[in-house]
Amino acid sequence: MADKPFNVLMSRLNDHSARVSILGLGYVGLPLAVVFAEAGFKVVGIDPVAEKVAMINRGESYILDVPSEQVQRLVDKGLLRASTDFSELQFADAVSICVPTPLRKTGDPDLSFIVSATEALAPYMHSGMVIVLESSTYPGTTREMLLPRLESCCGLKVGEDFFLAFSPERVDPGRKDWTTYNTPKVVGGITPACCEVSATWYAQAVKTVVPVSSTEVAEMAKLLENTFRMINIGLVNELAIMCDRLGVDVWEVIEAAATKPFGFMKFTPGPGLGGHCIPIDPLYLSWKLKSLNYNARFIELASEINTNMPRFAVGKVQDALNDHGKPVKGSRILVLGAAYKADIDDIRESPALDVIGLLMKKGAQISYHDPYIRHIEHEYEGWHLSCVDNLVEAVREADCVVIVTNHSAYDYGMILENAQLIVDTRNALGKLAKNHPKVVKL
Ligand SMILES: NC(=O)c1ccc[n+]([C@@H]2O[C@H](COP(=O)([O-])OP(=O)(O)OC[C@H]3O[C@@H](n4cnc5c(N)ncnc54)[C@H](O)[C@@H]3O)[C@@H](O)[C@H]2O)c1
Repeated sequence: MADKPFNVLMSRLNDHSARVSILGLGYVGLPLAVVFAEAGFKVVGIDPVAEKVAMINRGESYILDVPSEQVQRLVDKGLLRASTDFSELQFADAVSICVPTPLRKTGDPDLSFIVSATEALAPYMHSGMVIVLESSTYPGTTREMLLPRLESCCGLKVGEDFFLAFSPERVDPGRKDWTTYNTPKVVGGITPACCEVSATWYAQAVKTVVPVSSTEVAEMAKLLENTFRMINIGLVNELAIMCDRLGVDVWEVIEAAATKPFGFMKFTPGPGLGGHCIPIDPLYLSWKLKSLNYNARFIELASEINTNMPRFAVGKVQDALNDHGKPVKGSRILVLGAAYKADIDDIRESPALDVIGLLMKKGAQISYHDPYIRHIEHEYEGWHLSCVDNLVEAVREADCVVIVTNHSAYDYGMILENAQLIVDTRNALGKLAKNHPKVVKL
């Protein structure tokens, strides 16, 4: 009884002698690797990008939320290292898969990273191994995509010889109060034993584990969270459009509604959705539902409204310049903030790219500034820009400054003082801008 894979693995997880491997060292994988290493597990992160691997092994972080000093300390202690060599997986007892789940150009889910990571892992499967998928995906992925690939390669049986689960990552980059460590971790297994093993593993390193009855529940819980945000942002973006027609300040409306102590949750409008999660994950769900002959109408509608927000923001810039007797064509427009949200360095799906692209098409002379991003480029439109060096000068010279990302590092007083005209798509200027003739809000 004592040498059953379940018992051996449980004992190694409980005494932290289990060897951990994280597949994919990005925004999700690196913080997770660090959390397991902090708990005393020996962690090897595996990523095909040699530059990332070299940085980790030198004790350098490339993720803002993970300090280099922490990586250095864990590397020095021999608890954390990285590799491009997938054969390291033969030594792993516990593997977490944190690879990207983007959309194809057609808007369909692109599971190629999950498939390639699973296929890279399959040859090294051995008895007494636990595998947890963390990548956001549609319900059924773990059971339909991972399980057959892992079971067929080695003759091992899930729930007896190896253990498979899904545990969604909920990290909110840039956030200091809720981290990978203290954000409760939902875990759902293929079998009850899979759930128990995975929950035991995670409980060694994170504060709270929430076991659920299946991988599908865990997968769907993540999509509910992100769909909830996406639809509420869609609602408040439409409210911004409605308030614009009515001549009412949407920001004041939202602040007033938010004084209700119950039954209301504050969301704010903006120039569009960004990041690797909110604009994408709900579309995984609607895609899956289409295959079941169901049209996820809320998701489609919110997606349509959110997708049009960059155009709405550009309309505001056009109107603001027009009121100053200037056309967009030929005007110098400075975009402040390229990241998809405040205080992070992530440009993926950022609405700044759409806003800039649309303004360029209208003939504007665009420059941008972001304290965290030195260069930006648009893959399909083929343009690239470098961050301006002298912010004060750039603000003074612009016919219009467009605040796309409300980074807290900006000196908004300086921007207000020096700009000729400001379109503030995030209400970043807040009270500073009250009835200010230079400022146009979303
Ligand atoms: N970024 C977030 O805020 C966030 C939050 C919650 C959930 N998620 C989800 O987590 C998953 C990962 O997102 P991310 O933001 O960390 O992505 P990322 O692009 O930052 O990192 C993914 C990493 O995986 C590596 N990779 C690609 N193919 C691989 C393979 N076959 N084997 C091993 N590594 C491989 C890439 O080189 C990259 O370093 C996605 O499903 C995403 O939706 C992201």
